[in-house]
Amino acid sequence: MKGVNCSGVSEFVLLGLSNSWETQLLLFCFTSLLYVSSLMGNLLVVVTVTADSSLHSPMYCLLANLSVLDLIFCSIAAPKMICDLFRKKKAISFGGCISQIFFSHAVGGAEMVLLIAMAFDRYVAICKPLHYLIIMNPRLCILILVLSWTIGLIHSLSQLAFIVNLPFCGPNVLDSFYCDIPRLIKLACTDTYKLEFMVTANSGFISLGAFFLLILSYIFLLTTLQKQSFGGSSKAVSTLSAHITVVVLFFGPLIFFYVWPSPSTHMDKFLAMFDAVLTPFLNPVIYTFRNREMKMAMRRVFGRLGGCRKLI
Ligand SMILES: *[C@@H]1O[C@H](CO)[C@@H](O)[C@H](O)[C@H]1NC(C)=O
Repeated sequence: MKGVNCSGVSEFVLLGLSNSWETQLLLFCFTSLLYVSSLMGNLLVVVTVTADSSLHSPMYCLLANLSVLDLIFCSIAAPKMICDLFRKKKAISFGGCISQIFFSHAVGGAEMVLLIAMAFDRYVAICKPLHYLIIMNPRLCILILVLSWTIGLIHSLSQLAFIVNLPFCGPNVLDSFYCDIPRLIKLACTDTYKLEFMVTANSGFISLGAFFLLILSYIFLLTTLQKQSFGGSSKAVSTLSAHITVVVLFFGPLIFFYVWPSPSTHMDKFLAMFDAVLTPFLNPVIYTFRNREMKMAMRRVFGRLGGCRKLI
């Protein structure tokens, strides 16, 4: 295909999830409900942790930061997807497509680092309880935060470096409801075999590696907890299982996208939707409804707000 006169593609046409009207209506209700709930849920976590001084510990600071990332993450693809559902022609500009990829990888990468930091935080709490406050000091928390954003940005820019110079000249139909790299690469009019491999290596192996690292460390922590048997351990186990659930929910779809050979099945699209709105929704659910400390703090914070209203 060398020597093709590439005038460039200015926009991509998205096929969306389905053409049947009933499915679209169902998807509309389902996704907008989930989207609004993820916004509210994550906002609730951020407000509660910020407002309640009993939650000003490193674990909850990291958790609130995870919620901030979730707020951004679910706002990258979902609003456009929801607005597009009933549109005949769903299009996205070249710039829009690139920025969707940029932000989703930056936030996703940052989230990955934060999940690893949360596992490290639990490791220190369980294995070095006496030094917990010395090791997990506020400066380290800020360092973790800066590191997570930096790594996210570097990862995202390195992914973009693979695609910004690709020649797009003819085909511009993406069989999806948002832009992702594996599908975009397939539209370029050059031989993209090597590139696909690079992208899979970059995103796939990183997420696979981080996933196994996290699972192994949580298994290690659970067995350590089982050996020591003092009072607080059932609470510690429930915290750990919440972390593990979030890790599985975050990495499951990612690994499926990047390690699975060809992204062409219908299942794949529904999984992408799952990743876009359901995972950010479940994080606060898992952390808040199963966590007594958090529930009590919420009651305090919103009780106080109620009190203020009475005074006025
Ligand atoms: C995020 O983490 C930093 C550093 O620990 C903390 O100062 C900040 O309050 C956290 N953000 C939220 C929303 O809690």
